[in-house]
Amino acid sequence: MSHLSVSEKISTQIFETSEQASIFVANEIADLIRQKETEGKPCVLGLATGSTPTRVYAELVNLHKKGLSFKNVITFNLDEYFPMPPTALQSYVRFMNEHLFDGIDIRKANINIPDGTLPRDKVAEYCKSYDAKINALGGIDLQILGVGRTGHIGFNEPGSSEKSPTRMITLDQVTRIDAASDFFGDENVPRKAITMGVGSILKSKRIIMMAWGEGKGPIIQKAVEGPITDQIPSTFLQNHPNTQVILDEAASSKLTAVQTPWLVDSCDWTDKLIQKAVVWLGLRLQKPVLKLTNNDYMEHGMGDIITEYGSAYQVNIKIFNTLQHTITGWPGGKPNADDSNRPERAKPFPKRAIIFSPHPDDDVISMGGTFIRLVDQGHEVHVAYQTSGNIAVFDDDAIRFADFVRDFNHSFGLNKSDGDKFYQKIVSDIKNKKPGEVDSAEVMKIKGLIRRGEAKAGCRYTGIPDTQAHFLNMPFYETGTVKKSR
Ligand code: F6R
Repeated sequence: MSHLSVSEKISTQIFETSEQASIFVANEIADLIRQKETEGKPCVLGLATGSTPTRVYAELVNLHKKGLSFKNVITFNLDEYFPMPPTALQSYVRFMNEHLFDGIDIRKANINIPDGTLPRDKVAEYCKSYDAKINALGGIDLQILGVGRTGHIGFNEPGSSEKSPTRMITLDQVTRIDAASDFFGDENVPRKAITMGVGSILKSKRIIMMAWGEGKGPIIQKAVEGPITDQIPSTFLQNHPNTQVILDEAASSKLTAVQTPWLVDSCDWTDKLIQKAVVWLGLRLQKPVLKLTNNDYMEHGMGDIITEYGSAYQVNIKIFNTLQHTITGWPGGKPNADDSNRPERAKPFPKRAIIFSPHPDDDVISMGGTFIRLVDQGHEVHVAYQTSGNIAVFDDDAIRFADFVRDFNHSFGLNKSDGDKFYQKIVSDIKNKKPGEVDSAEVMKIKGLIRRGEAKAGCRYTGIPDTQAHFLNMPFYETGTVKKSR
């Protein structure tokens, strides 16, 4: 774990992984619950949903199994879609029950989640009473937050004021797109939500905002280092006296102290950091590495590198060569070539290569060129498709293929009546399916076969035989929903 202290305006801690960070946060929550229990007081927690806090909740459930009681805990959730029945797949009530409440001994009466079932004309009054209830309990002791790509906290989208109370809001299009997979299409994502306001959140005694993954890097940089603006509501946290930002390494990658530490402090110049800094300098000045000058280094906090190497020329050539040696047209190694500066060994030749493809098509999409080169250059290439990938096939395609099989059977006099019945079943299974509902076993199978056919066609195109395409169909994937089994 490292602490940053230079350009960020909110205390920030970075953990190597989100797992380690989540365990840290869970322990902070547990310590507070115990402390409040000793004081004979309730512990009032503000909770978030979404992918960010799930590991924290799993750890709290673990801690409960080891004896931590939640009997003195009162919770307030940040938000809920509107309208939203509590039993719906995407409901935050259901989310909280599944991830936390069903696994701990909290009293049901102590759980507060904005009500997505109210008549519309009762919402404003309800929101007032939500804030009033928090205030009557003396405020939230610890508020947990994730952050959206728009910079929202709770569902306080850009434009939310610093003093905003709990209220009904309209979801930003970016947020609706981010939620689209949960709702099986952005057209099914509700347009409204009830959210605790920025003002309500800022009244908390302590706030922990968490973010994981590279995708959160840019918004975290703005939230933590940028100017305070209602266009990025998470920047208001800079005005809160007791907020911590907890990140994994990937989410911290755009912070100045991580991305360009030489601009904010003296550096321990490892080879890796020198390479990163030189590439950054070239991009920044729009110059090829070999054209960087002593002055360029001096003016960008990189003078120490020049002192160490003697001149810009020396550094430039070293980095240029290092970068050059990572590039090759021979991904399996070049037979009979001097391989001392090549990224892959010359021998043995030919090699056996396995490409692991999480879904059929990841192989050709992400490394199709390498794939073709390996085959063309004489290696024995196998592809292991780890899952069936059936969830990504459109309903229309399933119908089109079932229709093809029916016509195929008719044309060749095969199984006419069975084929017709089967086709009708497929069409009706798909027509009667509601958004979010799992496909029938037959439809899932057809979708899996479609992807398998596409994968084999991709392999044939690159020149590998069908026998070297391996379909593992790993069972955790076969839920028919976006959420997979463990
Ligand atoms: C959820 C909430 C949101 C999320 C944010 C990030 O209760 O209030 O602000 O924290 O949208 O979502 P994830 O964690 O799914 O990236």
